Amino acid sequence: MSAHAFGLDIGGSGIKGAPVDLVTGAFAADRVRIATPHPSTPEAVAAVVAQVVDRFALDPQVPVGVAFPAVIRHGVACSAANIDTQWVGTDVEKVVEAATGRRVHVVNDADAAGYAEVAYGAARDVPGVVLVVTLGTGIGSALVVDQHLVPNTELGHLEIDGVDAESRAADAARERENLDWPTWARRLQRFFDVAERLLSPDLIVVGGGVSKKHELFLPLLDLRAPVVPAALRNDAGIVGAANLAEAHFL
Ligand code: BGC
Repeated sequence: MSAHAFGLDIGGSGIKGAPVDLVTGAFAADRVRIATPHPSTPEAVAAVVAQVVDRFALDPQVPVGVAFPAVIRHGVACSAANIDTQWVGTDVEKVVEAATGRRVHVVNDADAAGYAEVAYGAARDVPGVVLVVTLGTGIGSALVVDQHLVPNTELGHLEIDGVDAESRAADAARERENLDWPTWARRLQRFFDVAERLLSPDLIVVGGGVSKKHELFLPLLDLRAPVVPAALRNDAGIVGAANLAEAHFL
């Protein structure tokens, strides 16, 4: 029987979870999604997390991996751009452990997605430096060097042209300002130019919900590295968090 872990993706709009088959990287059962409570305080989020996990009849030994939209150091949230600020300084691992009664490992959401793309998706078997960028409410980034994750790179908060990069180039900015694809792509181009100059990646993988419409904007980008859409699209956070949890508790 193949190994399973449970993946949870805590986002600004939804809290999603599914058990993951760690051999294939596919969901072992249909994903459950419940809207993120507002305000998204630790207490309110913990209650929804418990509801999501309780929908599955999981073996008590199955570890839970959490993808969380903040800098995570040793289980503790150190920032809160798109989640309630009460999370800053909160031990996310302890909160989810208390809510679910399980072994829990927490990582940044883009790091989880990036790791999944390396393990099962668009960056599988790619040597060297892979940069994975998720475009959603914010901009998340994952840097993977020869299959090793360098956590918490937070490129979405680079200051570019005097502003926080994600405030201009996230998918939420495209929606908020009703930008057409070429206009948004010019903003992305500026972001990726800076990222590329910093890190010289061998491959850039673009994820987040909008990556399912990749043909509308990726061909408009002109970068040194090849740019490809995430193979796991928006499921990558769940899959990567599950995978990293399993590795953590080995
Ligand atoms: C947060 C990152 C997160 C990204 C995507 C940013 O605003 O600072 O930690 O990975 O949004 O959710």
